[in-house]
This record gives sequence, structure tokens and C-alpha cells, in this order.
Amino acid sequence: MNQSIQLKNVQKQFTGDGIITPVLHHLNLTIEKKKFTSIVGPSGSGKSTLLSLIGTLDQPTAGEILYGDQDITKMNAKQLANFRFEEIGFIFQQFYLLPTLTALENVMAPLFSRSVSFAKKERAIQLLEQVGLANKLHALPSQLSGGQQQRVAIARALVNEPSWILADEPTGNLDTENGKIVFELIQQLNKVKGCSVLFVTHDLSLAAEADRVIEMKDGYIIRDSQGEVPCFA
Ligand SMILES: Nc1ncnc2c1ncn2[C@@H]1O[C@H](COP(=O)(O)OP(=O)(O)O)[C@@H](O)[C@H]1O
Ligand SMILES: [Mg+2]
Repeated sequence: MNQSIQLKNVQKQFTGDGIITPVLHHLNLTIEKKKFTSIVGPSGSGKSTLLSLIGTLDQPTAGEILYGDQDITKMNAKQLANFRFEEIGFIFQQFYLLPTLTALENVMAPLFSRSVSFAKKERAIQLLEQVGLANKLHALPSQLSGGQQQRVAIARALVNEPSWILADEPTGNLDTENGKIVFELIQQLNKVKGCSVLFVTHDLSLAAEADRVIEMKDGYIIRDSQGEVPCFA
């Protein structure tokens, strides 16, 4: 599909013990397809919450989130699961690999119970080769370094050829060298495969390499290198 994402007046609040915590305030934003967009901001500014809404893992309290002309806030659970499977590859700071599965099995895991038009195992092997792990197909996560585990997670995110990569601090648990390898891999996916990338990071030097940098604070967008006017409630 590969469409731009549009947020219209998106708000998110969490309610617990009768207390309402507003976390995102009236966000209006277009994130262009095929671009590498980074989101920066201090801890607690709402970056992960925003990514989880865009990634359909959670619903906004109010507002619309459109991929092209499809409003994901109007989809039911089954439509969302299919949409997520077809369009989105997630990469998280914690790699979330299944510890009892090999690298190859982890990459194939999202395809379990899905019928697809390609050969699952061959695709998974090809992706592990692409991320430089051809010799680790049968290794368990515990036998891999952090950088290698994150590369397995990247291969897993790509297994259904998503149009969007949503990455939440994917280099956050890695040393500088491995962080750079992972970053460059995601950069390549954007440049070579035309994957649209939304990349949350604390690392300002990595963020600066993006086509666009969006800065958040306290649930607001306070700066945008593309010059959209921030909206303060
Ligand atoms: N499930 C939740 N319930 C209550 N508050 C939450 C929940 N998830 C996140 N928050 C709060 O929302 C704010 C933003 O969190 P988060 O999106 O994780 O920020 P960031 O990723 O920028 O560090 C924080 O103050 C956090 O405590
Ligand atoms: Mg976060």
C-alpha cells in the first residue's frame, strides 16, 4: 500500500484509579511515505505512546489516524490485525525474540497461521542473510549478542515486506558500534527498498541523519525540521 500517515487532532489519555493522565495533546501531523522520519524528545514525552497509536497497538482517546484514506481508528480487531501484518514492521528497544526459538524460527514466527504467496522459510533465510546472520540461522537468542538479536528482530519485522518500519529506540540497548550497524541497516531499507521509516531515538546524532526530525516534549510536538507549526493547546 505504502501511503502517508496523517494524524488529525490525536489525543491520548490513560485512566487508572480514577486519575486521568493526558499524554498526547491534539497532535496534527503528516508523516510522508518513503521518507526516514525521526522522533526525538526526553523520556516521558510520549514518543512510545505515539508510535503505539500509529502502529495500531493502542487506540487514541480522540482523533483520527489515516494511512492514505484508511482511518485505522475505525477498524475492528480483525481488520487491525490484518492491517498490522500487511503494512507494519515493528522494531523495539527490547528485541522481544522468543527465547526457545532459533533465529530462523523467530523470523518465521509472524507467518505462523498465515497463508502467504511466498515460501516462508526461503524468505526468512534470505532476510537473515541480508542482515549478516547467514551463519546464525539455528542459533538461539541466548547464543547471540545484543546487536545480532536486534538484527534478527529486524529480519522478523521485514518478513512480510511491510511498507512502514516503526522503530522505538532500536539502538537503545546497543553499544555505539552495534547501534550504528542497526541504524545503517534501517537506513538501507529506506533507501534501497523504499520502506517508510519512523524512528524514535534518544541519539541526536542518529536522528540528524533522517530526512526529517520531529521533537516532542510533554505530549506536544515542539519542533519539526519540516517546519509544520506546532500546535499548543
Ligand atoms: N499505560 C499507561 N498508563 C499511564 N500512563 C502511561 C501509560 N503509558 C505511558 N504512560 C505515561 O505517558 C507518558 C509518556 O510515556 P511514553 O510514551 O512511554 O514516553 P517516551 O516514549 O517518550 O519515553 C509518561 O508520563 C508515562 O508515564
Ligand atoms: Mg519510549
